Order: sequence, then C-alpha cells, then structure tokens
Amino acid sequence: MILRLAAALVLCILALPSLAQVPVAWKTGREAVVIEQRVEALLKRMTLDEKVGQLHLSGRGEGFNAARIREGRMGAVMNFVVPQEIADAQRAVRESRLKIPLIIGLDAVHGFSTYFPLPLGQASSWNPELIEEAAYWTGREAGAAGINWTFAPMVDISRDPRWGRVLEGAGEDPYLGSVVAAARTHGYQRGGVATTVKHLVGYGASEAGRDYNSTWIPTSQLFDVYLPPFKAAFDAGSMTAMAAFNALNGMPTTAHRELLTGLLRDKWKFKGFVVSDFGSITELRLHGIARDDAEAGRKALLAGIDMDMMGDVYDKHLAAEVKAGRVPLKALDEAVRRVLRVKFHLGLFERPDVDVAAAPKLMQTEEARQVARRAAGEGIILLKNANNTLPIAPSVKSVAVIGAMAVPEAERVWTDPAGLGRRVGQSLPDALKERLPADASVIYEPAFTRNCGTEFADKAAAIRAAAASDLVVAMLGEDCEFIGEAASRTNLGLPGVQQELLEALVATGKPIVLVLATGRPLVLTWADQHVAAIVQTFHGGTEGRAVIAEVLSGQANPAGRTPMSFPRSVGQIPVYYDHLPTGRPQKEHKRYESIYMDERNEPLYPFGFGLSYSRFTYANPRVDRANISLNGTAKVSVDVTNAGRRDGQEVVQLYIRQPVASRSRPVRELKGFKKLMIKAGETIAVTFDLPANQLGMHDDAGRYVVEPGDVEIYLGGSSLAETVTQITLTRP
Ligand code: NOJ
Repeated sequence: MILRLAAALVLCILALPSLAQVPVAWKTGREAVVIEQRVEALLKRMTLDEKVGQLHLSGRGEGFNAARIREGRMGAVMNFVVPQEIADAQRAVRESRLKIPLIIGLDAVHGFSTYFPLPLGQASSWNPELIEEAAYWTGREAGAAGINWTFAPMVDISRDPRWGRVLEGAGEDPYLGSVVAAARTHGYQRGGVATTVKHLVGYGASEAGRDYNSTWIPTSQLFDVYLPPFKAAFDAGSMTAMAAFNALNGMPTTAHRELLTGLLRDKWKFKGFVVSDFGSITELRLHGIARDDAEAGRKALLAGIDMDMMGDVYDKHLAAEVKAGRVPLKALDEAVRRVLRVKFHLGLFERPDVDVAAAPKLMQTEEARQVARRAAGEGIILLKNANNTLPIAPSVKSVAVIGAMAVPEAERVWTDPAGLGRRVGQSLPDALKERLPADASVIYEPAFTRNCGTEFADKAAAIRAAAASDLVVAMLGEDCEFIGEAASRTNLGLPGVQQELLEALVATGKPIVLVLATGRPLVLTWADQHVAAIVQTFHGGTEGRAVIAEVLSGQANPAGRTPMSFPRSVGQIPVYYDHLPTGRPQKEHKRYESIYMDERNEPLYPFGFGLSYSRFTYANPRVDRANISLNGTAKVSVDVTNAGRRDGQEVVQLYIRQPVASRSRPVRELKGFKKLMIKAGETIAVTFDLPANQLGMHDDAGRYVVEPGDVEIYLGGSSLAETVTQITLTRP
C-alpha cells in the first residue's frame, strides 16, 4: 500500500514538471565554466552558414520559412504564440544537423493570458514585490506556451508624454525606473523567460516626443538619468538587451560601438547578446550611415548587434562579408558565442519541447488573477477628490456609468493571440452594482462607439442618464491607435468626441467622477477645474474595472502614486520634477523670471503624487549623525501618521538635493521609497539607509563623482515633500 502510494506520488511529481516554473538565471561557478566549454565545442562544429543562422531572428507570418530552421539558418523566432506552432518549429530544429534549440521571443509586455496593468500602471503601484509578481506570472504563462524570451522590460526613462510608448516604461525617474527594471527582470526570469532590457539608449527622449526621432543627450545626463535602469536590469541578470531605433547624439544606436561594446561589454562586462530592434539594421541606410544592406549589416555587427530582428540583413549578407574579409570571422564568432551562451544558460538544450496539452492549464490561474487584481488595485491613482466625493456615499442612490471604456470589450490594448482563452474581466457597471448598497441603482450608457472614443454612439441617451442620476462616473481615455508604439500625439486632450462628452456631462450639474484609462498622463487642466473627482488608471488589465469599483465604492483605499508628472499644458513639456534650478526661479510669476507668460511652471499633478481616503502627516525628521563620510551610510528616519479615519497605504518618499556642488544639481532627486500600510491613528517610524555613494553625479566624461558638502533631505508623500532634514558629506 505504502509502495503504491509512493508510486502514485512519484507519478504525480513526474507529471508536474510542465506545471512547475523553470526559473532562468545566469549560471555561476563550475556550471558557467562547463557552458563556456560547450559553447566553444559547438562553435567549432558550425559552418559559416550555421553561424550566421544563429544571428537570424525571423517572425511568424508571411515570408516565414520553417525550412530555414531545418537548414540551421534560423536560430531564433518571434511572435509565435500558439503552442502547437511552437512545437512544430521545435520539431524542425530536431531535423536540423546540429539541433541547436530555438530562442523564441515575444513582446509579453504586461501579460500573456492574464493581463496586468500596462507597465506605467504597474509602476504607479510603487510596489516592487508586486511588480515582480506580475512579471513572474507573465513569464510563467508565456513560458508554458513555449516562449522562452520576452522583449521586456522596456526601461526607457521618458519625460515626454507626447511619446506613445511611455506606457511601456516606469515613467520619468531613474531611481524608480531602476527599482522597477530590476523587479521586472527578476520576475520574468523567475517565471522562466529570458528578458530583453530595451531600448539602448535614450529612445524615451525622442526629440519632440515623436517616435523613432533622434535624441540629444549629454553624457552626464545619459549616465545620471537614462542608463541607470539598464544597469539595474543587467545587475538583476537580464540575459539580453535590445538596441533602439533612434540616433543618439548623431549615431544610430544600432551602429553605436562605444555604447554596445565599449560600455556594455568592456565596462559593464555584459555576457549576453544584443538584438537589434525590428528591421533597424536595414534602417541604417535611411539614417544615412550605410550605402546598402551589406554595409548596414557590417556596421551593426561590428558595433555589437549580435542578432538581426526581422531585417534578414545578416541572413543575406553576413556570410559574404566574412568571406570578403570585411567582417573578421572573430567578430562573427563572438556574436554567435553570445547567442549560444544565452541558450545554454537558459537551459534550452535540456528543456523538453512545449507541452501543448498542458499549456492551457497554466493560463489564468487563480493565483495569477489575484496578482492581476492587486497590481491593478495598487496602481490606481486618485488625482482629485473634492468634497470627499469618493468613496461613493450611502446617500447616492443612482449612479450613471458613462463611456464605452467601462466595459472590457472596448479594450484594444490586448488580444488573445495564443487562442488559449482570455478571461474578460468584469465591466465597471457590473462591478459597481455588486459593490454598492442594494438600494443604489447603476445604469450604463456607452455614449461613444468603440472606435477609440472618436465617434458618438447615443450622446443624448448618455446625457439623459447622467441628468437623472445622483452621481456620474465617466470612464474615458485613450486606447487603440492613440497609445503605444508609433502613437505620438501633439495634443494631449481626451481623444475624439470625449472632451465634448465630458463638457456635456459637466453641464448637467451632477457631480462627475472622471475615471481615466490612458497610456500616458493627459493634460487634465480643464477636467481638474470642472469635475469632482479624478481616478487615473493606465489600463488595468483583466481585473482593471473590478478594482476601480472597489476604489469608487470604498472597499479599497487608493494607493497609487504617479510615476510621471502631469503637465498643465503641452507647451510645458518636458516637465519633470528633478530638473536643474535656474538663476531666475519662478517667485512672483513675473517677467524676467524663468516662467511662461501664460502658464505656471509646475505640473498639474507632481511626480509621486496620489491621494488616499486616509490623510498622512510627517513629523520628526532625523538622521543618525550629522556628518557622514563619502563611503558611509546615514540612517534617515521620519514619523508617518495616518491621521485619517481608515487604514491606508502610504508611499513614503525620500528626496535629496545638494545645494552647492561643482556643477548644478537637480532641485530634488528620489533616493528611496517605502510603501507601507498604516492603520488609522497609527504612527510608524520609517527609516531609510542612505549610502553616500548613491548621492553623486556623472561628469561630462561619464565619470561618477560624489562631492563633499551639505545634502538636504526631503521626506513626504510626493516630490513636493516638505519635511526636511540634512546631512553633510565629508571626506573620509
Ligand atoms: C519594435 C519595438 O520597438 C520593440 O520594442 C519590439 O520588441 C519589437 N518591435 C518586436 O515586436
């Protein structure tokens, strides 16, 4: 009997591997040494064509030719999401001479089957553990479908919401961006897929917010602002990186040897591979630095692009370039080595092919759903709440939910590419009905068509419904072609007819709660003046609307903080909190101060801001010593009290400023944060370690320096933090 039980247990365990995650990470010690030996041994057996094949990344769809896999001339594929198709591709590998496994990539950006908020929305949670969990479940679901490589995280810092891709990043700040980059890298790789930290570098600074445009970034800023999240992702073990589309200071990053080889390989000792962006090698011709594809391929490879995504340039030209002696075989071998190394470290040579039958069982598990719910909930930002309009009071007996975005079918951000079944989350009206008292009615009117909010459906019905209710919840925003890649905008108002709709709703005189699902901070200046409450989400994913209802009904206390400043007008952009001071600061908003004649300088909602149903106060800032040496660490503490009537989460933020240094330092820089649940009436002493070596800056040559002198420390619940203390940095 015992034996039989044991046998059953063994069978269970044997049946489990496909259900258990296969975490991936760089191997170390002896294992790493053995991998290097295996790489070299394999490299020796490869023909020139097979070597080039390892650098050739091609995608599902028209023009895809599985025969190339069998010939050993395609080492990587992308955009395969149907497990059976992945299994077919893996079978083709087994029919090839060397049977080198495929690396299979996908933009699993904020979910695979279960959808989490857009990365900007995840960053709004300021909860790295939760962000890591969201990435873990994304990796795990994608991994179960056979994918072993994701083109994420995007860690581009951006101070320009005109750029449509701000939604894929963590916002404007290098410190928060680095924490999020590390969390996402850990999460995905723990879930079983290798990450691609992207886009090296500066893509988020595209001039005028226009996608793919050039960037001009001084070295000191490159190192202080744009590179730290990449470094954080590499330190967290990211196995691959992607170069950007843009030219950086005149050099297209796809051909930027100083960046891809000088910095990445030589200085940072990155041992993984760098993939180009989609077709960006051939685009070197259009950038004006290559006459033809052969030259483009040569320049890219010699700069440090190991793999060609979807350009077919390496596939067509690299072997000839090597034969002609224009690309040294050594350079080709080095690129192949990097790709093989990642495949070995990923364990692909030992991994069984995708288990087609098991894959669906791993999609949308209850655990993933719970994480999606928490991630969406903690990222909701309450931007305005006049007269405590929220949570909805028991006296409100009728609510009109207006706007097609309130129902999930309006969502265009995500699809169900794998055909594995997508859980469509609850609609906002249904979720609200469930959460409001039984005697409160909820009616729903879409008002606009599902055509991205650009056309009215039945506007009159929506206004009638609003006029007949005690409270209006308008769920508006931007989706489809208004957000994401190639969706730059010059006007950051509500798209299409939605502003007209909002004005008509305001004209009813009813209190309006504006719930936004957007891909970026919009300009909300008009709304801020006219509606009672504003709730910001960055497309919350599968559970997005259910958690909005929790916040509106008061079941949950909002705890998101904005990772980007909200401009008052497009003309202020870029507007970000860690700017330098000027010699003419805004004081009285008068001529000859550094101001706009027609607008304030500060954003509408500052970085780090978000309201709560609780009220937090800060007192008693202190440091454990007045002076610390340049290699020491100060302990900075502050007492945070929840002076409200309900328990709530606060994001305690620590900013610094060095008022006098050898060059101008930003007016504030985030150097720490902690998200804490504080009970009503409770006071918590919060302590931060502040290592002096984190308080420096880079000079014009990219050298890091920490200078002695005073450092002001600001503690509070946003970048306007007002509780101040100070330390002095001294030479050891
Ligand atoms: C282009 C995007 O810039 C990149 O981020 C993405 O990974 C690739 N397309 C593949 O879809």
